[in-house]
Amino acid sequence: MDSNTFYHQSVLLHECINQLKIIPDGNYLDATFGGGGHSKEILKHLSPKGKLIVFDQDEDAKRNLPNDNRVTFIQENFRYAARFARLYRMKLDGVLADLGVSSYQFDTAERGFSIRFNAELDMRMDNRQSLTAAKILNTYSEKQLSTLFEQYGEVTNAKTLAKLITSLRTKMEFKTINEFKQAIDGLIYGNPQKYLAQVFQALRIEVNDELNALKEFLASISTSLNTNGRLCIITFHSLEDRLVKQWMKNESFEQSEMQLLTKPISKQLKQILKKPILPSEQEQKQNPRSRSAKLRVAEKI
Ligand SMILES: C[S@@+](CC[C@H](N)C(=O)[O-])C[C@H]1O[C@@H](n2cnc3c(N)ncnc32)[C@H](O)[C@@H]1O
Repeated sequence: MDSNTFYHQSVLLHECINQLKIIPDGNYLDATFGGGGHSKEILKHLSPKGKLIVFDQDEDAKRNLPNDNRVTFIQENFRYAARFARLYRMKLDGVLADLGVSSYQFDTAERGFSIRFNAELDMRMDNRQSLTAAKILNTYSEKQLSTLFEQYGEVTNAKTLAKLITSLRTKMEFKTINEFKQAIDGLIYGNPQKYLAQVFQALRIEVNDELNALKEFLASISTSLNTNGRLCIITFHSLEDRLVKQWMKNESFEQSEMQLLTKPISKQLKQILKKPILPSEQEQKQNPRSRSAKLRVAEKI
C-alpha cells in the first residue's frame, strides 16, 4: 500500500476514468482531491499539455500533491470551482467529485468525525471555519436542532433529542464526543451504532454545509464545461444522490412537476446513464466503505 492508499482508498476508480473519456491534451477538475487517487489516475491519461485543477478544503490533503506541473491545488470549497475555472480562463473537458469525508479524516480521532473515538466535537473539513459540531450543539435552537437531525440524519426521535440537548445545555457545555454520547444515551433508539451514525451524519452535513455546497457546485459547473465534457459524481447517501440525480435529469432541485413546468428550458446537460454505477461485489468486499457509493454521469450538450 502506498501512502495515498493509506490516506484514502479511491472508490469506483476505473469506472470514473472510463466515464470521464479523458482527452490527453484536455483540462480536468477533481473537486475532492483527498488522497489524490482519482487525480493520479487522471494524470496517467493526460499528455504533458493536459491540465488538472484539484480542490480540497482540507489543508491536510495538500500533502498528497504529486510533484507535477500539470496540477494546480486550490484549498477552497468546491462550491467556488466554476469561479476559479473562469479566473484561470479554463474550459473543462471533465469534472469529478467524490463526495464526503476521506478515510484519513474519518480515522483521525482529533478531527471528531467518528463515533469510535473520543475527541472534541469538531467535524470541520476546513479548519479555517468557526462552526464546529460543539458550536451547533451548544448554540442552535431546539427547532434548528430537530430539523437538522430529521432532515440530514433521518433520526427517528429528532424532536425528543433536540429537546434533551437544549435542556442539558442549561447545566453543561458539550465539548467531547464521549460527553455527548453519554448525555444522549437514554434516548438511543434501536441499534446504537446506527443511531449515533445518523446523529453524527446530520451534524457533519450541517458543520460543512454539505448539501448547499453541492447544490451551488452543480448549479454553476456546467458553464465551465466544454461541449461533450463529462461530469462524474460519486455520492454516499441518499440526500446527496437525490440532488445529483435531479440535477442531471432536470437541471432543477425541485421535485414538483408544477415547478418544473415553470422552469425555462435551456438544458446544458444530458444524463449519460439512467441508473448509477455501483461498486462491484469484489470492490465492496475489498473496501467496505465503498458499499454505499453511487456514480452518476452527465455530459455537457
Ligand atoms: C471521499 S474524499 C476524496 C478522495 C479522493 N477521490 C481519493 O481518491 O483519494 C473527499 C475529499 O473531499 C473534500 N471535500 C469534501 N467536500 C468538499 C467541498 N465542499 N469542497 C472542497 N473539498 C471538499 C474532503 O476534505 C475530502 O478530502
